[in-house]
Amino acid sequence: MLDAPQALLNAASEAMHNAYAPYSQFKVGAAVKAPSGAIYAGANVENVAFPQGQCAEASALGALVAAGQTAITAVAVVAERLEVCPPCGGCRQRLAEFGDATTPVYLGPTTTTLGELLPGAFDRGALG
Ligand code: THU
Repeated sequence: MLDAPQALLNAASEAMHNAYAPYSQFKVGAAVKAPSGAIYAGANVENVAFPQGQCAEASALGALVAAGQTAITAVAVVAERLEVCPPCGGCRQRLAEFGDATTPVYLGPTTTTLGELLPGAFDRGALG
């Protein structure tokens, strides 16, 4: 039986192998877990018009939302060429939309939280 982080990391890794990254050669996979326990994974999808590329985290969150889920209880991110791949700033904000400060984030062998990755986040409270 896999422990919870390993199951999520494995899903991220499986997606990573299918990443479309012909320009950067930097394949990334991400997986998010819904409160039901279901896991949704995604990979980065690059484009010849570079700004149109999408990060793996955004792909995983798109799969979550497409399945009717709007909350995450854990995240995993892996990259083919980097043992600990820090999510980009935009993806920290994207992930924060669906989790909370205590949500664990497994970055390869390292565990952190959404709160540590994005202190002082712009959140719903800011909208008043
Ligand atoms: N990338 C991600 O997929 N997630 C991140 O958080 C960091 C960067 C992708 C975007 C691009 O396809 C490649 O990694 C190189 O930046």
